[in-house]
Amino acid sequence: MSAPVNSAPTPRRFLPTGPLRGTIRVPGDKSISHRSIMLGALAIGETRVSGLLEGEDVLATAAAMRAMGASVLRQAQDDRGNAEWIIHGVGVGALLQPEAPLDMGNSGTSTRLLMGLVASHAIETQFFGDASLSKRPMGRVIEPLSQMGAAFEASEGGRLPLTVRGANPAVPIEYRLPVASAQVKSAILLAGLNTPGITTVIEPVPTRDHSERMLRGFGAELEVETDSAGVRTIRVRGEAELHPQTIAVPGDPSSAAFFLVAALIVPGSELTIENVGLNPTRAGIVEVLRQMGGSIEEVNPREVGGEPVADLVVRHSALKGIEVDPAIAPSMIDEFPALFVAAALAEGTTVTTGLEELRVKESDRISAMAAALTTAGARVEETENGLTIHGSGGEPLRGSANSRVKTHLDHRIAMSMAVAGLASQDGVLVDDTRPIATSFPVFESLLDGLGGQ
Ligand code: S3P
Repeated sequence: MSAPVNSAPTPRRFLPTGPLRGTIRVPGDKSISHRSIMLGALAIGETRVSGLLEGEDVLATAAAMRAMGASVLRQAQDDRGNAEWIIHGVGVGALLQPEAPLDMGNSGTSTRLLMGLVASHAIETQFFGDASLSKRPMGRVIEPLSQMGAAFEASEGGRLPLTVRGANPAVPIEYRLPVASAQVKSAILLAGLNTPGITTVIEPVPTRDHSERMLRGFGAELEVETDSAGVRTIRVRGEAELHPQTIAVPGDPSSAAFFLVAALIVPGSELTIENVGLNPTRAGIVEVLRQMGGSIEEVNPREVGGEPVADLVVRHSALKGIEVDPAIAPSMIDEFPALFVAAALAEGTTVTTGLEELRVKESDRISAMAAALTTAGARVEETENGLTIHGSGGEPLRGSANSRVKTHLDHRIAMSMAVAGLASQDGVLVDDTRPIATSFPVFESLLDGLGGQ
């Protein structure tokens, strides 16, 4: 799983392109894919998952669930790469002690959610990951899971590698999230599944609710109450019994975002992106790009796997700079790198604030994007909690003739700067494209297939 640190960096220059036209599908949603494997592994019987994202992060989750006793198998469906994943779960409370430390690769979601699962099982295990993941804070999950009775030995600063000793039985807690984090919320809810009694998470700022939707779908007793101020209280009853499901994973809006921005900034483009998940806790990017003047149409709205989905038709647009409301950040937290590229091509100034969480993602995305866009010729100012970007007014960026932009083992920096290259004079030289495989292994082939490169 830690391939990116073990093999040689793979640089690539992303060249200016002609219009992007056609119809594409992006792979399955990463968040939903992780959760469908985890919950399938806890349900006794056969769970079938189609549209699963087969990126390195999700494969790390699959390997970990296998190591804890579940059977997780890929069954090819056709020769176009479509597959169904068949999971035979062990039952809540019956996860096994893994024989070796769990390799989380680059995946924060795998790490934090699985720490939650292990925390209420009679399991002692070590988690480790790549250089990027080993810098990320785990204290945010260690704290509530310790209150539930689990014990942790972490590296300095509450980081990986770390050892978890689960509590059995764990004790239910009521926990108010100090940071807007779906990963922390989900870690506690997953721990709550094997904890006798009611585990409560209070969420002052709503974050993605895939865990809640899917837990209900698998038959957990889960209640959500929203007060007049929008504060959500989520209660799950343990010890839960989960029932196997058949799940269709919708396309990942976070992956679609790169193609939305690409079509908006490359003159003459018109793209249809089919089957994009538009859960309101994830769809902030579409709203913000529209506020900037982007033409994005939703066609054929429907439900897939308990999630709202539509096809998106996006056309090249003259974008204008805006002040992005920080309240929308949680619903597009992974899309800021792509948004910054759109802002770099807009007319006028875009101001973003309230984004301190971006500093603890796969890289410090505020400083990484400030440096990358500056290298590519954009005018950017970094502040403590955001970027201010003075757009080119639709003129191509200069590009980075000989200097490589640094991606810091961060897939979203690599893909965002690839998109910037499409609307540049000299192209953009990305120092390493390997991290793209963590979330969007077919990104480059989809892009190349649109004829631009
Ligand atoms: C995720 C939640 C988000 C997001 C990550 C996936 C999830 O992280 O950045 O890519 O699947 O729950 P936080 O909850 O830490 O903001």
